[in-house]
Amino acid sequence: MQVLNNIESLHHYLGRLPSNARVALVPTMGNLHAGHLSLVDKAKALADVVLVSIFVNPIQFAPGEDFDRYPRTEAEDIKKLTDAGVQAVFLPTVEVLYPDGIEGGTRVMASRPLAEMLCGASRPGHFDGVVTVVAKLFNLIQPDLAVFGEKDFQQLVIIRRMVADLNFPVEIISVPTVREPDGLAMSSRNSYLNAEERARAAMLYSCLRQVGEQVEQGARDMAALEASAEQRLRDSGFVPDYFRILDADTLAPLHDGSRRAVILAAAYLGHTRLIDNLVVSLPA
Ligand code: PAF
Repeated sequence: MQVLNNIESLHHYLGRLPSNARVALVPTMGNLHAGHLSLVDKAKALADVVLVSIFVNPIQFAPGEDFDRYPRTEAEDIKKLTDAGVQAVFLPTVEVLYPDGIEGGTRVMASRPLAEMLCGASRPGHFDGVVTVVAKLFNLIQPDLAVFGEKDFQQLVIIRRMVADLNFPVEIISVPTVREPDGLAMSSRNSYLNAEERARAAMLYSCLRQVGEQVEQGARDMAALEASAEQRLRDSGFVPDYFRILDADTLAPLHDGSRRAVILAAAYLGHTRLIDNLVVSLPA
């Protein structure tokens, strides 16, 4: 596997690929787990060349968030990607991607109000930072397709919207969330949980499933469902940030034409902020 640390080596590598090679990009922040490897598997099935990027992007973290302590496990990540049969990993430093520093540079503005609701309400500027770095990676690598996890559902909707709005010739592929045996969605941030928090963490997904069944069975008082789910989370020791039931295609409130609902939750367990979601079909 080629490890590419700068833009020159990236371009040299891409320039030597056959001109008809179909290239898939899997953008990550590293600390790879089975969820990331499922993105790699999907990319391998759809493309000739799989390139994974590993970059903890400072501009998507607000001051006081976990940028400094975000787990960085490059050696283990390279081993996992080599074993998974990935052809190349792009592993730039902050100076390589932001040579003029992270202040004052041009940013892509993620679609409003999408970027200011849900996670965007408690993490102002987060999605602008995400779409800026994704746009940079798309421009540098010019992949045919890019693969993202459905765990970050709002991010996925926002990236699809950016690709449509800015006419990026990149196909966006999504892959279902990979879960631990008790249902907890795999996430690098799960490593912040202590043993007692970890034992309780799967309650978030149980709550999503409970509400999902009610929605599938025709319950329509979304505000009541959301309020009682938040209360159940509080009773289990979480501090909910949001619990919402929305149209899965647009993240707008459900309407008569909605075909799928997405139930999205973010909640703190101690100092750790967990997010998860569940998509359900709506009865016709
Ligand atoms: O989902 C992530 O890991 C990041 O937000 C992404 C898409 C790699 C951009 O930094």
